[in-house]
Amino acid sequence: MSKKLFIETLGCAMNTRDSEHMIAQLHEKEGYTTTQNIEDADLILINTCSVRERPVHKLFSELGGFNKKKKPSAKIGVCGCTASHLGEEIIKKAPYVNFVLGARNVSKISEVLHKDKAVEIDINYDESEFAFDDFRTSPYKAFINISIGCDKKCTFCIVPKTRGDEISIPDELIVNEAKRAAKNGAKEIFLLGQNVNNYGRRFSSSEHEKVNFTELLRRLSKIEGIERIRFTSPHPFHMDDEFIEEFAHNPKICKSMHMPLQSGSTKVLKDMKRGYTKEWFLNRVEKLRSVCPEVSISTDIIVAFPGESDEDFSDTIDVVNKVKFDQIFSFKYSPRPETEAEHFTNSVDDAVASERLSYLQSSHNELLDAIRVKYLGQTFRVYFEALNKDNFVSGRSDTNLVIKVKGSEELLGQFRDVKITKVGRAVLTGEIVA
Ligand code: SAH
Ligand code: F3S
Repeated sequence: MSKKLFIETLGCAMNTRDSEHMIAQLHEKEGYTTTQNIEDADLILINTCSVRERPVHKLFSELGGFNKKKKPSAKIGVCGCTASHLGEEIIKKAPYVNFVLGARNVSKISEVLHKDKAVEIDINYDESEFAFDDFRTSPYKAFINISIGCDKKCTFCIVPKTRGDEISIPDELIVNEAKRAAKNGAKEIFLLGQNVNNYGRRFSSSEHEKVNFTELLRRLSKIEGIERIRFTSPHPFHMDDEFIEEFAHNPKICKSMHMPLQSGSTKVLKDMKRGYTKEWFLNRVEKLRSVCPEVSISTDIIVAFPGESDEDFSDTIDVVNKVKFDQIFSFKYSPRPETEAEHFTNSVDDAVASERLSYLQSSHNELLDAIRVKYLGQTFRVYFEALNKDNFVSGRSDTNLVIKVKGSEELLGQFRDVKITKVGRAVLTGEIVA
């Protein structure tokens, strides 16, 4: 009987891919298969996120719960960004934890498994050329890392401290991975990096061809079998005209762009060290919409960054009203250890922060209701990728709308034209017309 792995993944798409890499290594090298039952597991992994403060005691109470439920012989490992920044402290506080593996040390999973109390959290470790074994949760959509780490120094962000400096993965490795995914049936690839359109600035060796992100997109779009390309996250600062033109005119690139705004105030953006102004952001949206009118735009916004005045917040609302984002991920600012903003003293009162967040969310919901009602009766090409409850199958439009229809698993991995019959905030319902 194979050994069983239980893995919990928190946080971003990159963590999801890191978990797939660990599952692949543990399967190939150590003979593990996954289980949804902690009680059956021989190894329990928690792949953590530290972007916003999740009270540390919550991690430890969860670990305590795992420790009570697990088989006596089962091991527990803490991985990901919180592993990178707390390191040894995790084992000091929870001595039953067997190892700690940082977000930039995923390839060492088999190694730490056999060393009790191992702590591998080196953020200078370069695994940009490590050949992971293949494993994908979904056969229809393939996540592919194109870089590790982040070179930006946004003052609120812990990621450069947990994932280290940015290194691009050589383009031939990415192209080969995409070809393998296509051969295994994936028609969509999803490129991942903290700052994807900075791709190509630095490789682990100067011998690698200096390919930029636009060129990488062109090369990937030539692969037979790959019909859709998505990526996250691009940085507004690096959205030059060449990139926007390629995005607009390359038919394989999905017309959905994530443009993390963070704040609409040029003063706050400066304090955040984002490298662009309110005007630059609006100018990039205008350029994008002028060459690609159907594009859907999503964003991330932080409210109540230290020093954010009512006027600064109004600038954010102004951008939201002007751009009419199709989706907003919004957060209250959360001070993070080892970031510059942690030392800023002009923090915003928590009651004001909550008020701003709920104002932002409710005013965006009103905008969204007006945008989405227009989809009624429209037809979208949907790539189906998930079975839902009550005989529904769901997928996404090119513009990233989640759409479901009545149907069965034969639809999975297929494209169909769907006419929208019902509009909801998160999901649209429709009927197949072709
Ligand atoms: N490069 C990635 C950023 C990863 S963090 C990207 O552009 O998507 C994901 C999001 O979390 C950020 O865009 C930001 O909106 C939010 N975030 C990061 N640090 C934060 C903090 N200290 N407090 C609140 N939100 C934060
Ligand atoms: Fe964080 Fe800014 Fe990089 S948000 S991940 S430091 S681009």
